[in-house]
Amino acid sequence: MRRLLAGGVVASLFLLAECDTKANLPRRKSLSFAPDIHASFITGPFTSPLNAWDSEPDPVLVAVEFISEVSSDDRSSLYIRDDSYTDSNTGVTHVYVRQLVDDIEVMNAGMNINIKDGIILSYGDSLYRGGDAEPKDVDVHKAFCAALEEEFSAHFADFMKPFDSNPPSNGQLVMDHSGEQFQSADASTFGDSRYIFQDHCTENAKITSCMIANDCQWDLDLKDYSTGPLPAIFRFMLTASPDKDLISNMVDHGRDYMSNMTITDDDTDGDDVGRYLHRNLIENVPGTVSPVKAWFAFAQVPYGGSFALEPVWKFEVEMENNWYEAAVTVHAPYRIVSVVDWVSDSLMAPLPKKPEAGPGASYNVFKWGLNDPEAGRRSIEKEHFDALASPLGWHSIPISDALGRVSTVTNTTTTWGNNIIAHENWEGKDAWEDNYRPDAGAQLAFDYIYNPKVTDGSEDAMIEAKKYINASITQLFYTSNLFHDLFYRYGFDEVSGNFQHHNFGRGGKGDDAIIVNAQDGSGFNNANFATPPDGQNGRCRMYLWNTANPYRDGDLEAGIVIHELGHGLSTRLTGGPANSACLVFGEAGGMGEGWGDFLATTIRSTKNYSDYPMGAWAANTPRGIRNFPYSLDTTVNPSTYKTLDKPSYWAVHATGEVWAEMLWVVSHRLIAKHGFSETLFPPAPLSDGTIPEGDFYRLAEYTLSGKRKPLIPKHGNSLMVQLVVNAMKLQPCNPSFFDARDAIINADMVLTGGENLCELWQGFAERGLGPNARVIGRMPWGGGFHIDDFSIPSACI
Ligand SMILES: *[C@@H]1O[C@H](CO)[C@@H](O)[C@H](O)[C@H]1NC(C)=O
Ligand SMILES: *[C@@H]1O[C@H](CO)[C@@H](O)[C@H](O)[C@H]1NC(C)=O
Ligand SMILES: *[C@@H]1O[C@H](CO)[C@@H](O)[C@H](O)[C@H]1NC(C)=O
Ligand SMILES: *[C@@H]1O[C@H](CO)[C@@H](O)[C@H](O)[C@H]1NC(C)=O
Repeated sequence: MRRLLAGGVVASLFLLAECDTKANLPRRKSLSFAPDIHASFITGPFTSPLNAWDSEPDPVLVAVEFISEVSSDDRSSLYIRDDSYTDSNTGVTHVYVRQLVDDIEVMNAGMNINIKDGIILSYGDSLYRGGDAEPKDVDVHKAFCAALEEEFSAHFADFMKPFDSNPPSNGQLVMDHSGEQFQSADASTFGDSRYIFQDHCTENAKITSCMIANDCQWDLDLKDYSTGPLPAIFRFMLTASPDKDLISNMVDHGRDYMSNMTITDDDTDGDDVGRYLHRNLIENVPGTVSPVKAWFAFAQVPYGGSFALEPVWKFEVEMENNWYEAAVTVHAPYRIVSVVDWVSDSLMAPLPKKPEAGPGASYNVFKWGLNDPEAGRRSIEKEHFDALASPLGWHSIPISDALGRVSTVTNTTTTWGNNIIAHENWEGKDAWEDNYRPDAGAQLAFDYIYNPKVTDGSEDAMIEAKKYINASITQLFYTSNLFHDLFYRYGFDEVSGNFQHHNFGRGGKGDDAIIVNAQDGSGFNNANFATPPDGQNGRCRMYLWNTANPYRDGDLEAGIVIHELGHGLSTRLTGGPANSACLVFGEAGGMGEGWGDFLATTIRSTKNYSDYPMGAWAANTPRGIRNFPYSLDTTVNPSTYKTLDKPSYWAVHATGEVWAEMLWVVSHRLIAKHGFSETLFPPAPLSDGTIPEGDFYRLAEYTLSGKRKPLIPKHGNSLMVQLVVNAMKLQPCNPSFFDARDAIINADMVLTGGENLCELWQGFAERGLGPNARVIGRMPWGGGFHIDDFSIPSACI
């Protein structure tokens, strides 16, 4: 039986093996898997055919021309998604393409095309191009009901059997990839359920009633299956719900639950081509907190050595602790084809209650660069907001008029601002609006005690931690806002999908400040971050660590906060702002962890080189929470590409550790060449809005077409951060290590004309990811046989 290690878009920091023995810590159930499809990332540059006749071709026309060349299938239509954008930092236009077949969305097919000055720099491609074999499931118009009846009735027992997903000790769910987990169900146990389900179908569902009555003569039109998704969503909830009582109730009283669900049309997003075609809302779905969005789509699946389109019901399911995008086979509604967990809530940030003017805040915090309480003392820091990233500071929220212009500004005196909404969440619940936040009054002086004492028991340790909640929230708010401002300047802005309540008319979708929970009660010794698509709030849960007495507070360890916020950055930048399903499992999910570790480690590093562990203070162990500290020394950190062979490296955090180590080595090649900048923050803009070079930037000597010379970070560490961010935007959805490496090399070509080509290859090759590195037999969740290549391209020797 094939098995899959699941990761998730709700990416958690890790789970310490040694903490598993401590108490029954609450654990979030999360499902995550998808079929392995072909996908490629091709780096150019390629000259566009349009270049010949237009010296400044519109990048969208270039994309249209290009996609008409790559797609020859007459059933397909390709659309440019409306979250495509031109990056003002690099001048690169990132075009995201959605594929429809027979006017129906193919959920896991598409392209990302990177264009600058009429030249295609690189592109990712996972288009469906028809299979060698006639895909059986595509042919739904012929014998849909017959197939449904046959397959479904053979699996009635399976249908009602919940999939028991007890998390194994490493904290990751093990899910069967192909739905085979249902094969062993005992039919007799569920005889009654079969009756219940049939009865429901007769009453409510056109599609299933013909099946039950055995008279499926009507000409089936897929788009007319308005009642079709009910069995599929019911079955999905049996698997997805973490509530064992609810599951057994659903099995026992399936009829009631099914007949309580209602379906209505939902045309609210009908203008978004393809995606919401025939979208329905299903109400009263057990275990959910809002109506489930459901629509008909295709999923591309491996089939007979090629690929086929499987008709699926696609769902967006919001639950207390999960927020799933799931696809369930129409023919076999007990089979989940893919599932991605975004977590989070869809609530838009309402405005805070106490508007009051403020002078500019100050905070008693471990200042930026101090990784944790052992790295230095707290000091009073000013609200050094970046004028480009946060034009109104961290405590002011603009409100738009009907035309989208800023009409009024609400100033807050709490930790609620346009980028970040920070508060305690001791209850560990989803609700957050009314959670406690410190109110620093008109002076905005967030100066609070932090003086935890050793206590007797764990109950007292918790009481002790709660005493300094004001300081925790203040620190979390400060670190998170600086993260927002810093990465804004490296290009994580409104159009590329950043997190802000108001977007100042600069594009992208607003209403998505990050909700950050300090001392979140839903867990210990960890942290997590949920990234839904642009326009919906991100959510970060920071936990206490019961690794010492007094407890250690993750809110005070900048590296952990940066790692988590890094998930929001990498997920929104990879595959486009509207696609949150690109860094979920396997190598892609692993790199999602690795970027966070790399950025946290780079931010704390100084001119004097040092190795760094992750999470060492919170976990109260010098080696930290990974297998090795990040180090240039192979005797301290021996990770290479081949390390991924080890089964213990199949989970996302260990995979990420290998990627972060590679980035650390590569960044020091750049530091050796370009030196080290004491600060990663670019200079403030001048009063006319231009950005001075200062000692931070230099002007590019080269651009692809001689136009629009960009500013290049002058030093190795700041250059590496810039290349990493730019590469996230270039790489395809679900990238491999090779794709992500090639995207960084491509990013350097775009930014500098490729002047660091050899340093980048030398760095990657040092850890086995040279040009001839290969993998044999890789599965979507990891594994396979990895071949290190320590060589560099001959041009660099
Ligand atoms: C179905 O709805 C009725 C009426 O609202 C309610 O009393 C009943 O508890 C519901 N049953 C289930 C299983 O949710
Ligand atoms: C809100 O704060 C901003 C910046 O701190 C300030 O310029 C503005 O005057 C304040 N607005 C109100 C209504 O107090
Ligand atoms: C937190 O700060 C508020 C003032 O904003 C103060 O009234 C409260 O007592 C403080 N809470 C704790 C636990 O110190
Ligand atoms: C680097 O080391 C030197 C010599 O030990 C020391 O004087 C300096 O303060 C250190 N710099 C930083 C940024 O840690």
